[in-house]
Amino acid sequence: MCGIVGYVGSKQAQGVVIEGLRRLEYRGYDSAGIALVNDGSIASDKRAGKLANLDKAIDEHPLPASTIGIGHTRWATHGAPNDRNAHPHLGGEQRLALVHNGIIENFAELRAELEAEGHELLSETDTEVAAHLLERELGKGVDLTTAMQRACQQFEGAFTLVAVDAQDPDRVVAARRNSPLVVGIGEGENFLGSDVSAFIEHTRDALELGQDQVVTITREGVEVTGFDGSPAEGTRYHVDWDLSAAEKDGHDWFMRKEIFEQPRAVADSLLGRRTAEGLLQLDEVRLSDDELRDIDKIIIIACGTSFYAGMVAKYAIEHWCRIPVEVELASEFRYRDPILTRETLVVAISQSGETADTLQAIRHARVQKSKVLAICNTNGSTIPRESDAVIYTHAGPEIGVASTKGFLTQLVACYLLALYLAQVKGTRYGDEINEWMDHLEAMPAHIEKVLESAEEIYELARSHKETKSVLFLGRHAGYPVALEGALKLKELAYIHAEGFAAGELKHGPIALIAEGLPVLCVVPPRGRDQLHEKMISGIQEVRARGAHTICLAEEGDEKILPYADKLITLPKVPVLLQPLVAAVPLQLFACELATAMGNDVDQPRNLAKSVTVE
Ligand code: F6R
Repeated sequence: MCGIVGYVGSKQAQGVVIEGLRRLEYRGYDSAGIALVNDGSIASDKRAGKLANLDKAIDEHPLPASTIGIGHTRWATHGAPNDRNAHPHLGGEQRLALVHNGIIENFAELRAELEAEGHELLSETDTEVAAHLLERELGKGVDLTTAMQRACQQFEGAFTLVAVDAQDPDRVVAARRNSPLVVGIGEGENFLGSDVSAFIEHTRDALELGQDQVVTITREGVEVTGFDGSPAEGTRYHVDWDLSAAEKDGHDWFMRKEIFEQPRAVADSLLGRRTAEGLLQLDEVRLSDDELRDIDKIIIIACGTSFYAGMVAKYAIEHWCRIPVEVELASEFRYRDPILTRETLVVAISQSGETADTLQAIRHARVQKSKVLAICNTNGSTIPRESDAVIYTHAGPEIGVASTKGFLTQLVACYLLALYLAQVKGTRYGDEINEWMDHLEAMPAHIEKVLESAEEIYELARSHKETKSVLFLGRHAGYPVALEGALKLKELAYIHAEGFAAGELKHGPIALIAEGLPVLCVVPPRGRDQLHEKMISGIQEVRARGAHTICLAEEGDEKILPYADKLITLPKVPVLLQPLVAAVPLQLFACELATAMGNDVDQPRNLAKSVTVE
């Protein structure tokens, strides 16, 4: 978490830095700050709360003109989210300003060492310790680049650091270990950002940095080294997102815009996956067919919404490929000593590609010699870079903190992976795989149809403004959708919401049912497997006890009518693919209910978009 910006060039740095922070604010919004170098000294301001607070403060007390600066928007780890703990932090001599993302794990020892030398620290943060340590190195007569290299050799943990030195108005120096940082390459100016949205307005040429690297940007160029000072290189790439993709397009929230972008995102994620001969191709999967054929177990690791995509993947992979699949929360994975072999494929699902829990889990898997395949939406992020293979989703930038198009495109990638494995292992014939691909390619139109009923769902959501608790029921692939519907409501509306497998109700949760309690039911399509009938029994049970049932059921499902107090119609699709349409009304419901309650939908309290601490 935390958003970081750095700039050196000929423009006024204040504007560039503040605009960059605005685009990164989704990463954390507990506080924000800026530091500029001006005439041999540091000018800085920082405020608790959202960026708007800092903006207002700078308006009232303008900072001096400067063409070099750094900025930070914070998601608090060490120390409360107040003005004092906000970044930038200055060294004791006020010569150096530093912003930081991540955690310096040995900060307590370093702090004791500095205090013993007479340093006076003002905040509770690990960042201030780093600032003093860097300034101590600078005091030995070296330049900021060397000071950064030396300081980084003393830090343990995961961090991105960006610093300026009042006595050197020509360079911004940054370092990264296990935490995101990209360089934006301009003409006569260069940029640093936690991700490319920080500078996309100015340049789309970017440089991806490796692990344990220090980068120095000046007006003339960019220099990369290792922590030991040895020369190193980043990887140049061109960003194909444009600025408008990162703006709201007339919607009140990024989240709402992103919900409506889902037909396109799903279509884009399916593009180019079939050869002229009708074979499925996944270009980025760098594992050979022989390697894939040897796989005898799959473990899917992910967090939050991505974890629910993984739960759906289990249904698809086991059904189509007959390979056992475990789905595990990334934060639990390595602590339970999982059984991993060379024949295990670990699939890591992460929209951001930076989630620390997932990253640590894949590292654990690779040490055990398992193959790791990432499903990710963010090109050049750490998780795909550290994986053996990757399937990129093509959702475009997801800015709303609550994942929507990220989720749907993850589902698409999971289905593609399952069908690809079935093709390679020969567990399904080509014709059947092509039929499933036809079904998938019809999904954008189905999702569009669901979106056409948005007004009806909004009205329903608004009528639940006073609701204190909502339950979600599902079966089969609809069970993870129920969990996802509940998560969306918790994180946006801040009310009690829980998802259950409908068959589990009678084993305990049915005790929660009280008169008038809204229960959203994801009804499986009618089929030969009795899932539909079993779901109706569950709905009858809660309705008999006073629940108000809101049923999401396929068009033409007349059997559900007597048991649905409110019916939301879904297009007719196979049960395995139903999550792609059933998740959408639940996203719309949560977005509108939170809006009606007056909550900040894009930046819900206590959350951050990219969770880069464990
Ligand atoms: C919920 C949400 C989170 C993320 C989770 C994993 O709406 O967005 O639960 O899904 O933090 O993030 P990624 O996919 O970036 O690893």
